[in-house]
Amino acid sequence: MKIAIIVGSTRPGRLGSQVGAWVAAHATDRDEATFEVLEVADFGLSLLDEATIPGAADREYENPRTREWSTAVDSYDGFVFVAPEYNHSVSAAMKNAFDVLYPEWAGKTVAFVGYGASGGIRAVEHWRGIVANASMFATRNQVAVNTLTDFPGGELAPSDRLAADLTGVLDELVTLTSRIGSPALAI
Ligand SMILES: Cc1cc2nc3c(=O)[nH]c(=O)nc-3n(C[C@H](O)[C@H](O)[C@H](O)COP(=O)(O)O)c2cc1C
Repeated sequence: MKIAIIVGSTRPGRLGSQVGAWVAAHATDRDEATFEVLEVADFGLSLLDEATIPGAADREYENPRTREWSTAVDSYDGFVFVAPEYNHSVSAAMKNAFDVLYPEWAGKTVAFVGYGASGGIRAVEHWRGIVANASMFATRNQVAVNTLTDFPGGELAPSDRLAADLTGVLDELVTLTSRIGSPALAI
């Protein structure tokens, strides 16, 4: 089982990279799955520039960068979205990275590690509606990293409570992914 931890901020100096690295480090000892970090920023995606709607493109994308992103996402069974809250919602960069594909997400699992001044809770709630359109299976629980209290001196210092939350969410994601298989829908 392969899980991608997707860092959904492309902002220079983003805290998301610290959150993604923490999730990966926390998951290192698990033998049920491998966890890898994907930074959306590394893929240099344009704002949706494909003439064909992704759900109808059958993975035949025009832009080589979309194809590279498609190949990467396709290779995973499930995902952890490291989701910043921007203006009470999801980050535009991550929403665009989601929108440019479709079958690569469909029928797979996802868990959320939100972060922001209120733990990214509103962003994650919005993500739940978005991923439902791709028939994804989301874990019930989520992790809420507070950028005001969990980054003393600018460095992520997760509390025991936060670490326990992450353990629970990863347990749930691994169980869900193994029960569903990969992917649940042949699209
Ligand atoms: C454009 C923008 C809008 C933001 N809006 C919110 C918000 O509505 N609620 C919140 O809790 N934090 C908000 N923040 C704070 C971010 O959640 C926080 O800066 C976080 O570190 C952003 O993720 P990043 O550092 O990985 O880019 C906003 C930040 C940016 C850049």
